[in-house]
Amino acid sequence: MVIFRQFETLLKHLYFLKKTTNGLGFGFVPTMGALHEGHLSLIRASRRECGVTICSIFVNPAQFGDSNDLEEYPKPIEQDIELLVKNACDILFLPSVEEVYPVDYVNQCYDLNGLDLRFEGKSRPGHFQGVCNVIYRFLSLIKPDFAYFGQKDYQQTVVIKRLTEVAQLNTIIRVVPIVRESNGLAMSSRNIRLSASGRNKASFILEGLEILQKNFRVQGISKAIDLVSWHIASFEGAELDYLIVADSTSLKEVKDEEHTDLVALIAVNYEGVHLLDNMILSQ
Ligand code: PAJ
Repeated sequence: MVIFRQFETLLKHLYFLKKTTNGLGFGFVPTMGALHEGHLSLIRASRRECGVTICSIFVNPAQFGDSNDLEEYPKPIEQDIELLVKNACDILFLPSVEEVYPVDYVNQCYDLNGLDLRFEGKSRPGHFQGVCNVIYRFLSLIKPDFAYFGQKDYQQTVVIKRLTEVAQLNTIIRVVPIVRESNGLAMSSRNIRLSASGRNKASFILEGLEILQKNFRVQGISKAIDLVSWHIASFEGAELDYLIVADSTSLKEVKDEEHTDLVALIAVNYEGVHLLDNMILSQ
């Protein structure tokens, strides 16, 4: 695996590869590091589809509201490099903050049609604009054929698709299924902040989504949401932040169970950790 820290050298290398690999597709996997199986599933999806896989590790200050969260974000870089090598990633891009946001960089505000203000955006103002700023930098300069994002952060995938439209980026966005721990908890770098017993019990989030899937057609969306709320509330210390059934493309809330293309989005605060999950609802 080759490591680059500057756009200039990375782009020169990609230019050379493009000429010598006979047009093999370039796949890009943006991350903030502290890699786990969820991230690695994106690397593998890219490797299956593309001739060259580029992963970036960049803890993006623009998407953090709280500077403590930013400073405390784990940075096990040696371990991350080892995992990327094991998973046959071709290129790691490891830029500094100054490289991504030079002194003359002007923060952009994208028209996300309100997608950035709902759900996760409510409690984290500016978060999705921050995500879009860094993803625009990467996609507009690296110009990958495909970029891979996890369904785990469903709202983020919808925001990124909107960004590619409004900013006219040519990269195709792929969404990769959620990787879960053995008890069903969606993998996340935040899970290490849970106690061992909390991490075990946190399977109640997926159970909640399964209750919703099982009941919403017959009982109606609002009754099914009540059932899930009771289930979550029965776990001491668990506080439901939101549970929404929405149109899977527009993310507008849906109350009518006859609507097709639904996604259920859930966020739970548990042991002081904000845990996200979601499920595409089948008919
Ligand atoms: P990060 O939290 O490091 O996640 C990087 C990618 O891994 C995201 O696309 C995320 O959805 C995916 N991912 C995380 N957990 C997953 C899981 N359990 N299953 C499948 N995919 C999973 O998301 C970000 O970084 C940043 O916002 C970023 C897009 C890199 C922009 O800074």
